[in-house]
Amino acid sequence: MTLKLKDKSLIVSQAFINGDWVDADSGETLDVTNPATGAWVSKVSKCGTAETRRMIEAASVAQKSWAKTTVKERAALLRRWFNLIMENQEDLAQILTAEQGKPLAESRGEIAYGANYVEWFSEESKRVYGDIIPQPSNDKRVMVIKQPVGVVACITPWNFPNAMLTRKIAPAIAAGCAVVCKPANATPLSALALMVLAERAGFPPGLVNILTGRTAEIGAELTSNPLVRKVTFTGSTPVGKQLMAECAATVKRTSMELGGNAPFIVFDDADIDSAVQGAMISKYRNAGQTCVCSNRILVQSSVSEEFTAKFTEAVKTLVVGNGDQEGVTVGPLIDEKAAVGVCEFIDDAVAKGAMVTIGGGMSSRGGCFVEPTILVNVSRDMRVFSEEIFGPVAPILTFESEDEAIEMANDTEFGLAAYFYSRDIGRVYRVAEQLEYGIVGINEGVISNEMAPFGGVKESGSGREGSKYGMDDYMDIKYMCVGGIDK
Ligand code: SIN
Repeated sequence: MTLKLKDKSLIVSQAFINGDWVDADSGETLDVTNPATGAWVSKVSKCGTAETRRMIEAASVAQKSWAKTTVKERAALLRRWFNLIMENQEDLAQILTAEQGKPLAESRGEIAYGANYVEWFSEESKRVYGDIIPQPSNDKRVMVIKQPVGVVACITPWNFPNAMLTRKIAPAIAAGCAVVCKPANATPLSALALMVLAERAGFPPGLVNILTGRTAEIGAELTSNPLVRKVTFTGSTPVGKQLMAECAATVKRTSMELGGNAPFIVFDDADIDSAVQGAMISKYRNAGQTCVCSNRILVQSSVSEEFTAKFTEAVKTLVVGNGDQEGVTVGPLIDEKAAVGVCEFIDDAVAKGAMVTIGGGMSSRGGCFVEPTILVNVSRDMRVFSEEIFGPVAPILTFESEDEAIEMANDTEFGLAAYFYSRDIGRVYRVAEQLEYGIVGINEGVISNEMAPFGGVKESGSGREGSKYGMDDYMDIKYMCVGGIDK
């Protein structure tokens, strides 16, 4: 497949280690294919343990010098990277759609979304404040400063191959850390293109490094090497738990942005048209492949008929197809295994009594395409209630009372995002405060932005990305006690 890029040098196959573009030691490569067509897009290096170790050692050396830079220097470097990302937005979006499948409009949006984290943290780097604390006795003074944690390993998923990386790298660099990155093998090209731009922006050798290849080997080295002081990961809860267990041996800090099972609650006093709009975006963005996608739509019985009818009409307007085609709003899933898995959720629900109002299975396009689907008559014994669907399927359950809605919403081990629609101000506070989630969208289906803290509770993870809290995860607190002050 030939991509029509203005700047073809954004497509690279090699790993970026210590400022050099290098092949895997073995010379082996992995293929990257387009999920919409199955066509070959490019290849990348199949690196392993030895390359990972070299990358970590390079980062460790670079970090020591970087920690001595002024915050203005860090801000300027990140700003140059931000400018380059936005100047190359169209090419980066084309690469993203080719390897990930999402519609081009969404890819353009993701590039801007990812760049916003770089811009935000270039600004936030200047606002890292310490504290002066009242002294316990007059011969002492007590101060608190924040210092970079050191080398940070960033492990990123295929659903947002650009933004999940920038929102880890940018705060790390702003804090004075160096990074070693491992993007998902399904979508490495977007991450490598970001490194091309980082090199152009003038990142010193070793400060940002990336490799692709043998996931298990690379992951094991990242989590066991004592030079890595922090691992930040976005992905599934089972993998997050495994990484946390591996990190325990060297007591690394971790930030985990893991799975979700977002409830989307529609109360009887909601503006139904606006709830439908919110459900459309929060469910079908990226073909339902986001951790914050609505997973269970909970509707008060008195408005369920109206909501379902309007939601079904809205879903009819979605256009499934290849993300590079004009007008397409739902692209393929990442691979055929994912598409089959999502259809199994539908089959399980239907076998247990659910009914399909629209969609219902694999799209006639076949391959990785699944029809946008709505299920009604859904109950808690169905897999769609308790598991993360990660596809374009919206199960609707009904409830009678506010308490029941909250109980159903919290009946999960996950706690990333929740949404609800209500115009009753008292209910807005009551419900928002009782939902056991890190993020709550109230009369709003779009909740992600760089200025807000993104992250979950319970088994959805720990740590926050973006916002004024976002750099805390990349810094250690040091307390200094100065004695001998009294004469
Ligand atoms: C995710 O799916 O992990 C991220 C979604 C977002 O940033 O909105």
